Amino acid sequence: MSIAPIGIFDSGIGGLTVASAIRKLLPNESTIYFGDTARVPYGPKSPETVRRYAREILDWLLAQQVKAVVIACNTVTAHALDDLRSRSPVPVIGVIEPGARAAARATTRGKVGVIGTAGTIASGAYPRALLHARPDLQVTDRACPLFVPLVEEGWFDHEATRRVAEEYLAPMRQAGIDALVLGCTHYPMLKPLLRRVMGDEVQLIDSAEETARELADLLVELGLAAGVNSDATERWVATDDAARFARVGAVFMDGSPAPVEVVDLGGDARSGEGREVYP
Ligand code: DGL
Repeated sequence: MSIAPIGIFDSGIGGLTVASAIRKLLPNESTIYFGDTARVPYGPKSPETVRRYAREILDWLLAQQVKAVVIACNTVTAHALDDLRSRSPVPVIGVIEPGARAAARATTRGKVGVIGTAGTIASGAYPRALLHARPDLQVTDRACPLFVPLVEEGWFDHEATRRVAEEYLAPMRQAGIDALVLGCTHYPMLKPLLRRVMGDEVQLIDSAEETARELADLLVELGLAAGVNSDATERWVATDDAARFARVGAVFMDGSPAPVEVVDLGGDARSGEGREVYP
């Protein structure tokens, strides 16, 4: 048993969809959510750059004595999961395998669509994981780089977002998919809009819940679960723009945000405490 916190990180706010699923499934666990808002987006950046950023965040989380790390970002999972696992003394889990497993279970026609950032799609990580889960699947994938800025802006149900979605998803409709993997942790915020564009017969697969379940199983298996703990805490840490993080983050977390601390990974990265700046 351990009451040490779980570290969860993303390039920005999107990974809060995973933090929210963890909060719901594991209310006894303390968490530290790290959003690298100074350097978002990661999607268009090279694998080497994403790996470097991810290592810096892993080091910061390890300095906070986390007992496990959840990479709540598909782009980081695609480029850096193996690298982080090889460096980390605590278990590290990503979001791609849980998402692929859920999609392989959900499709009846065997036709699956995947949308994600440019980096995630270029890495081929999803088709690999999907075909590993079910070799008979037909996979259609597409990078949707405009979705992340639209979500970070809070434009979840905006006309501009709908037009962009129509354009991006046309090939998915042509391919006749019946399951669409939301291969970016920002995209679950677009679910109602994506459902309208794709129609009710297409299941939208969001890896957040599946990832939370994998984390729960892992904690039990390793004897790391917190047990009954009414003192569970939640910290939100960002590298910039705490006010926007708190505002949009509250929407991601059903209106109950935590105060946002700001850290500078170049400066106080190892010192532990961030500056609490908002609210
Ligand atoms: N939320 C991230 C993901 O799941 C990436 C967003 C970005 O930084 O481009 O891929």
